[in-house]
Amino acid sequence: MKIMLVGGGGREGALAWKIQQSPLVAELLVTAANPGFPAGCTPLEGDLVEEARARGVDLVVVGPEGPLAEGLSDRLREAGIAVFGPSRAAAQLETSKEFAKAFMDRHGIPTARWSSHEDLEGALQAVTGPCVVKADGLAAGKGVVVASTAEEARDAIRSMFAGAFGQAGHRVVVEERLTGPEVSVLALCDGFRAVPLLPCRDHKRRFEDDAGPNTGGMGAICPPPDVSEALLAEIAESVLQRTVDGMAAEGRPFRGVLYAGLMLTPNGPRVLEFNVRFGDPECQPLMMMLDEDIVPLMLGAARDGLPSRPLKWRRGAACCVVMVSGGYPGSAETGFSITGIDAASEDAQVFFAGAKREGSRILSAGGRVLGVTAHGSNLGVAAQAAYGAVSKISFNGADWRKDIGGSLK
Ligand code: GLY
Repeated sequence: MKIMLVGGGGREGALAWKIQQSPLVAELLVTAANPGFPAGCTPLEGDLVEEARARGVDLVVVGPEGPLAEGLSDRLREAGIAVFGPSRAAAQLETSKEFAKAFMDRHGIPTARWSSHEDLEGALQAVTGPCVVKADGLAAGKGVVVASTAEEARDAIRSMFAGAFGQAGHRVVVEERLTGPEVSVLALCDGFRAVPLLPCRDHKRRFEDDAGPNTGGMGAICPPPDVSEALLAEIAESVLQRTVDGMAAEGRPFRGVLYAGLMLTPNGPRVLEFNVRFGDPECQPLMMMLDEDIVPLMLGAARDGLPSRPLKWRRGAACCVVMVSGGYPGSAETGFSITGIDAASEDAQVFFAGAKREGSRILSAGGRVLGVTAHGSNLGVAAQAAYGAVSKISFNGADWRKDIGGSLK
């Protein structure tokens, strides 16, 4: 079987690693360079639909949200090619915050109270105290401001209407600010059924103890110890399956990965956001925990239907520590040689993100450089292995959070 993987970040590194383990896969074609992609991958350029058709690709796996927002899945399906990823219409759950909030209200999916505004004055008047301000469209993970004061919220609104996020900020959503621990719960979806994955926890803030600015994610654990089976079942039913049912009823069947970012409030779980693809870095520990071939599952989501059974998972836990460049999440200092990968790989899987190969060297090339991911019999053991591997890697400016998985190391 020939599989095409779209995207080249840490998430796609983990997907490639898992897909390549499938005995069903004869060839993995990739649309971006990543030094961690398995040897023997076929690099692709040009129009992806034409390439997929010409090369007889059996399944396309779309990693990032950008191509989904642009309708890549629709073009592939029109060409008769199976694709793991939602249509442009279904991707609106991520590409429009207003659509997602109104959808949740229509279908009784628990979420924070909200209002949506296309005019500056209306948005400013909606602010009465601490709240959350969101640019409506895609903003590379930067379009959400959790404001502690009304003034901070109003500044965020003014900056969005002034064009800080381009078109994405021409409409803003003002939301009630909730409190509680966050959890990411993802499901594979075939248009009708949502099959939940193990829960994960991202660590979005740049510094220990959740201090500093938001980032794309400084590390992730799977599963977090405070999410019980009963809570996961409640989220699977009242959020994930209800969303898939609602999307089908509205003529936008959802196929691919549905990602619910939730807050566990004193009044129960509430959806903070939907994404329509694997989380990054959540994908890295998830792929390490999944204890079955992912390819039949992706084909099932794309084409034939998913199994009704629960998925198979390894015992224990996985921990991913993201190593970043100096300056991140601001302008990152890059171009430095990375050493120690082979030694680190004895204890962990090193997934590459902002890194590139130059001759025999691997250089840092972005803000988030590596996702060092390890499995263990429990979270503490997994975190210890991941940190042990991190300590063997070096590059100029390298930094990482020391508290992924709970305790300060
Ligand atoms: N880790 C958060 C995201 O992928 O959006």
